Amino acid sequence: MSPVELRRRLEFYRDLGIKTMYRREAQVEATTQPSPEPLLEPQFEPEPQPAMELPGLAPESDTLFKILEDIGDCKRCRLHTGRNKIVFGAGDEHAKLVFVGEGPGADEDAQGFPFVGRAGQLLTQMIENTASKEGIPILRKDVYICNVVKCRPPENRTPEPDEMEICGQFLFRQLSAIRPKAICALGGTASRALLGRTEGVTRMRGNWQKWNGIPVMVTYHPSYLLRPYNQNAKREAWEDLKKVLHMVYD
Ligand code: URA
Repeated sequence: MSPVELRRRLEFYRDLGIKTMYRREAQVEATTQPSPEPLLEPQFEPEPQPAMELPGLAPESDTLFKILEDIGDCKRCRLHTGRNKIVFGAGDEHAKLVFVGEGPGADEDAQGFPFVGRAGQLLTQMIENTASKEGIPILRKDVYICNVVKCRPPENRTPEPDEMEICGQFLFRQLSAIRPKAICALGGTASRALLGRTEGVTRMRGNWQKWNGIPVMVTYHPSYLLRPYNQNAKREAWEDLKKVLHMVYD
């Protein structure tokens, strides 16, 4: 890869919010020849663990198919050891709206599709019922749904920061390839991954934020809404979703 191409690629990743990149030793050797142009200085970690290649993409021609290919039979982080299926994402590749959850649960891990368990049924109802009540003719299949991490964390624990960072590059590429009109971040993990914000969802929800120029609405994760004592949160989540649907489809 020429220094100019490398710089373009590094700028693309920087713009996506990817701060750390790992590369294999063989690649380090291959790219240590003197270059005529100054390079952006990526932050390479001293001991990558585990090593992850810079995915070979031409940023402007990235597609979901290419991203899926780059994920391959991923073993870049410890989550691969317990997974049955990688849960890449599902829905319309040209969707105007993308929902981002945290990571697959047991049902998603078994089937390979996001939000197919109880939380998923609630999400489907929320999307389709709210849209129908608001006179917006969309179904779940018209949006795109994916997660921050693509493999199920053991016991459904919250993904660790390094797992989010490693897998986050693929989420960012998915979002950049789809380039939706808005993103709905479901819960704290999605809002941390996209916005780098650590405040609780209750503080952040209801207002538009931005990821790479794309409006982001943070709202409660459907699993949280399934808990019986969260009536107020349910009402707020419906309000958030209405706002999102009107912004995207009006
Ligand atoms: N919870 C998530 O965050 N994602 C899924 O796909 C299912 C449950």
